[in-house]
Amino acid sequence: MKPVIALTKGRLEKQFLEFFRSLGYNDQALIDKGRKLRVDTDDFQFVFAKGPDVATYVEHGIADLGIVGEDILLEFQPDVFDLLPLPFGKCRVALATEEGTQWPARKRRIASKYPNITKEYFRKKGESVDIFKLEGSVELAPILGLADAIVDIVETGTTLEENGLVIKEEIHQISARCIANRSSLKIKRALLNPVIQSFQKGETVS
Ligand code: PRP
Repeated sequence: MKPVIALTKGRLEKQFLEFFRSLGYNDQALIDKGRKLRVDTDDFQFVFAKGPDVATYVEHGIADLGIVGEDILLEFQPDVFDLLPLPFGKCRVALATEEGTQWPARKRRIASKYPNITKEYFRKKGESVDIFKLEGSVELAPILGLADAIVDIVETGTTLEENGLVIKEEIHQISARCIANRSSLKIKRALLNPVIQSFQKGETVS
């Protein structure tokens, strides 16, 4: 039996592959996967999904382990075991506005893919705001006048810069995390422990 790992597609997937290879695992099947969403390597079965769905598959025991951004854990609070931080996917969740923006006197409007993180951030500040949930390209919202500010992931800062936005405040420093299904950790301990140990030993990758 192989452990099943749910892997977040996109940027994290690329960084995970580099990390996985650095640990000495054979990743050829992953490189050759094309559009396949389920791929077996010598040691694992991988399933590829969007971040929130990775958490869902792990929560329900379809996958034993998941590789997911900490933003997903903060936003959705899935019932999974947050095993360990991984040395990639390092970024910030930040509040950003157009350069030179003055806060309006009225209730502020904030656009985000992360309504729960946003709500919690402003709740702690004791401020009530209107939140607009967007699915992507959140930087457009202040430019087009939908919102006064955004709460979003900043990795290199290029997207903010190229769209004339600046960080007002950092809310969280985050990284990729390895999560586990709670039952798998107990029932499949012998199978999963060596994997977890090897992930713990992994070096920082770009
Ligand atoms: C994320 C995030 C920012 C961008 C930040 O979006 O929402 O838009 O990356 O990265 P940077 O600081 O390196 O420029 P993503 O690329 O995942 O696409 P999306 O906007 O469609 O969600």
